[in-house]
Amino acid sequence: MTTFLVFGHHGQLAQALARQASSAGVTLKFMGSAEFNLENNLAQIPDLISKFSNCDGIINAAAYTNVDKAEHEDCLRAYALNVQAPSQMAKACRAQNLPFLHVSTDCVFSGDKTMPYTCQDQPNPVNFYGYTKLLGERAIAKIGGRSCVFRTSWVFSPQGKNFFTVMLNLGRTGNPIKAVNDQIGSPTYADDLACALLHAAQKMAKNPQMKHPQIVHIAGKGAPVSRYDFARAIFMAAGLPVNISPISSEAFGATAQRPAYCALDTADFEATFSYQLEEWRSGLKRAFSQSKDIS
Ligand SMILES: NC(=O)c1ccc[n+]([C@@H]2O[C@H](COP(=O)([O-])OP(=O)(O)OC[C@H]3O[C@@H](n4cnc5c(N)ncnc54)[C@H](OP(=O)(O)O)[C@@H]3O)[C@@H](O)[C@H]2O)c1
Repeated sequence: MTTFLVFGHHGQLAQALARQASSAGVTLKFMGSAEFNLENNLAQIPDLISKFSNCDGIINAAAYTNVDKAEHEDCLRAYALNVQAPSQMAKACRAQNLPFLHVSTDCVFSGDKTMPYTCQDQPNPVNFYGYTKLLGERAIAKIGGRSCVFRTSWVFSPQGKNFFTVMLNLGRTGNPIKAVNDQIGSPTYADDLACALLHAAQKMAKNPQMKHPQIVHIAGKGAPVSRYDFARAIFMAAGLPVNISPISSEAFGATAQRPAYCALDTADFEATFSYQLEEWRSGLKRAFSQSKDIS
């Protein structure tokens, strides 16, 4: 059985990796912030990784993900976690010839396109979070070794704080809700992302000579949607009669700008790793079954 060290433990993706590990036939060892705080121990990351020399690879599910706070108050934390920590991980993996799977974001793109972004499209982030994630991608590419960056978007699951749980909690209050209708993207069920990553991790570990692009995209398939339409799909699936209306991003007034369009083209991932990604609407149904298991 292949074994991977995962940075991140209680985050949305790390938890989905934990749920999917046994059916994917992998053993995962998790390193969350309580076990090893990446931000405070940047220089010690290579030493830590060297202690896991019996692992078949590293998956980085840790990041600074608060897009609004990254803009000003937490910009140094975002830089440490999204640029410096993955750079250290990539260096350590290169030194030990280990595959390194790093997760990045649709937020590296400007949002000017009207068709799904391919891996060949030029990034040009509109917020600091996206900028740090882009710098992380570039640092990893420069370091080289057996690394691959997996960009994803609009990750949702019934656990933690994400668009799915926030909308459901708001919907259950019975109050009218507004959701942004000028941001279009590809929702991605966390467990579908986890399955796809574990599949790729095994392929990379088992084929050291494998040729793959430096960056690929993993996202829910099916027609991209606005935040507003995604929220309506969530309420419909929940059977919640919510009074929801559209609002512009400008009127909503979040601290950080978001890309207006950030759907991801996943063809390179599917071709490289011989893997069929799931539709986000099917992920939504499975997220509801999972939430019934949790409650
Ligand atoms: N969520 C989205 O919609 C979305 C969209 C596109 C891309 N992504 C990318 O997907 C990846 C996973 O995101 P997510 O949704 O799972 O994020 P998340 O729920 O916010 O989880 C963040 C993870 O980072 C770890 N972490 C944070 N600060 C740390 C520190 N100082 N030291 C060590 N670990 C620390 C947390 O550790 P603990 O386990 O200890 O809490 C947690 O596991 C990230 O690379 C993110 O940029 C996410």
